[in-house]
Amino acid sequence: MNEVIRHLLEKRTIRHYKEEQIKEDDLKWILQAGLYASTAGGRQSPVMLVCQNKETNERLGRINRAFFGHANSDGIHFVSQAQKSIADDDSIKSGFYGAPTVITLFAPRNWLYGVHDCTSAAVNMTLAAWSLGIGSCYVSRAEETFESELGKKLMQEAGIEPHYTARVCLCLGYPDGEPGTAKPRKEGRVKVVL
Ligand SMILES: Cc1cc2nc3c(=O)[nH]c(=O)nc-3n(C[C@H](O)[C@H](O)[C@H](O)COP(=O)(O)O)c2cc1C
Repeated sequence: MNEVIRHLLEKRTIRHYKEEQIKEDDLKWILQAGLYASTAGGRQSPVMLVCQNKETNERLGRINRAFFGHANSDGIHFVSQAQKSIADDDSIKSGFYGAPTVITLFAPRNWLYGVHDCTSAAVNMTLAAWSLGIGSCYVSRAEETFESELGKKLMQEAGIEPHYTARVCLCLGYPDGEPGTAKPRKEGRVKVVL
């Protein structure tokens, strides 16, 4: 197994982060990995907004959390026991889990492949992060989060045009605690035609 495949298999979503900010140099590599991701038609549609302001990330994370319903309450079907998500625990108040760095990926609203392009970039970035010892969590509800007054204000401040819409938020930080283990892979997900 080569190193890339090992990282792909071992990478787990991290939701518990240390307070310490990620190194500037590592952030640059993570962004490079996103900028070099495959995009539909090679159009390089994603624009990335980096936020390392603790208060802003907390406020946005709470907005993001508010667009999610209640956690599963059966105590059996966990997203992750070791790195609990908002789907596991109602007491988590931020959809960004206190991450010191949050990168949001935007694409033009009317670009058919905007979600795919942003996902492609985000996945590259999670893998780059993991290879550098940085944990990450792919977070949904980016659209709603950046349709808030605060979200619109940040877009304006950053010079992101209003015809862009947020597609993915990526939380990043040094892992705190155990990453947890991958669930067993479901059977029968690979089909072959002859
Ligand atoms: C499209 C997508 C959306 C996701 N949205 C969220 C989210 O909003 N909040 C969250 O905590 N995790 C989110 N995740 C992370 C998944 O919960 C996580 O990948 C899954 O439980 C498997 O865990 P693993 O990444 O450790 O293998 C998302 C992952 C994907 C691919």
